[in-house]
Amino acid sequence: MKALVLSGGTGSRLRPITHTAAKQLVPVANKPVLFYGIESLVEAGITEIGIVVGDTAAEIEEAVGDGSRFGARVTYLRQEQPLGLAHAVLIARDWLGDDDFVMYLGDNFIVGGIAGPVAGFRRDRPDAAILLTKVADPALFGVAELGPDGRVVSLEEKPAHPRSDLALVGVYLFTPAVHEAVRAIRPSARGELEITDALQWLIDRGHALHASTVTGYWKDTGNVIDMLEVNRSVLEGVDGRVEGAVDADSELVGRVRVEEGAEIVRSRIVGPAVIGAGTVVRDAYIGPSTSVAEDCVIDSSEVEFSIVLTGSHIDRAGRIEGSLIGRTVHVTGAPRAPRAHRLVLGDHSSVHLTS
Ligand code: TTP
Repeated sequence: MKALVLSGGTGSRLRPITHTAAKQLVPVANKPVLFYGIESLVEAGITEIGIVVGDTAAEIEEAVGDGSRFGARVTYLRQEQPLGLAHAVLIARDWLGDDDFVMYLGDNFIVGGIAGPVAGFRRDRPDAAILLTKVADPALFGVAELGPDGRVVSLEEKPAHPRSDLALVGVYLFTPAVHEAVRAIRPSARGELEITDALQWLIDRGHALHASTVTGYWKDTGNVIDMLEVNRSVLEGVDGRVEGAVDADSELVGRVRVEEGAEIVRSRIVGPAVIGAGTVVRDAYIGPSTSVAEDCVIDSSEVEFSIVLTGSHIDRAGRIEGSLIGRTVHVTGAPRAPRAHRLVLGDHSSVHLTS
């Protein structure tokens, strides 16, 4: 069995981060979200992995390499344009051959892994299998309607009037039957080849589609709030460990990981939190559910429930909460300046000012 990991796409919901970086590489507890997915595939016994890449191909290839450090063999499959999840299957046809495969969305996060569903699929071998979970806002997802016998009757992508609250989780299991389906369907109103249409095509032609409802934790990290939520949940399981330097005037409360070469000076950190290698935290407060990546400086500021990416500086910035700060960003307070904000913001940035 192979795995097709989708790591192309537009990432419009995570702009401006995705103007310059792949959303699948945004770190969760200082590890790219994509790595958790690859690890869960390997854990399920799947080591032959094809990664679908788009404009951010170089960055993904540099981060993942040939897959050997995950115990996998990775092949990169170029998708020239993000024309839909079913389109990704279409372009991967030759690489997939006649093998069964798991399709895994590279920005999805599944707690508890996928070994169970993969084993079930290998045992029962339906033509395709999907995982469903109840969500509060089904209109944002692919939605499945089940008949009284529990079988899938219909599937729809981001429906205006959802017929159920069961959303498709970003893991799909396929036999080669899907190839005919992705060739047969036409682009949807939003111009994409939808995987829900391919699944509907299979149902309509009498193919066996298994659906199991999962209650475990699943998140599509495609937007900032979900990204912070996943980070919070992963940090809950982090071990406290100090590999950097913490001075006598600092205090670490709860589980705090201070990576190698990091320096904590006259600061208070309340875990769960991770401070990346080479980062300096000085005269600052870092609150729970916060990850600060490598080579950052947090000086005379408070940061809580946030993700800060590599090389950023936050200096005299007051209190920052619920924020996703990109790479090499500078946030600087200007206490003696006139009451005006000076901003240099990328396209699609969003800033909430309280004064
Ligand atoms: P989505 O998050 O559904 O799409 P997107 O990346 O275009 O994001 P947005 O809606 O914010 O604009 O995609 C799920 C995953 O699949 C994600 O990792 C990107 C990937 N993908 C592809 O590789 N090729 C595609 O054609 C599409 C649509 C998505």
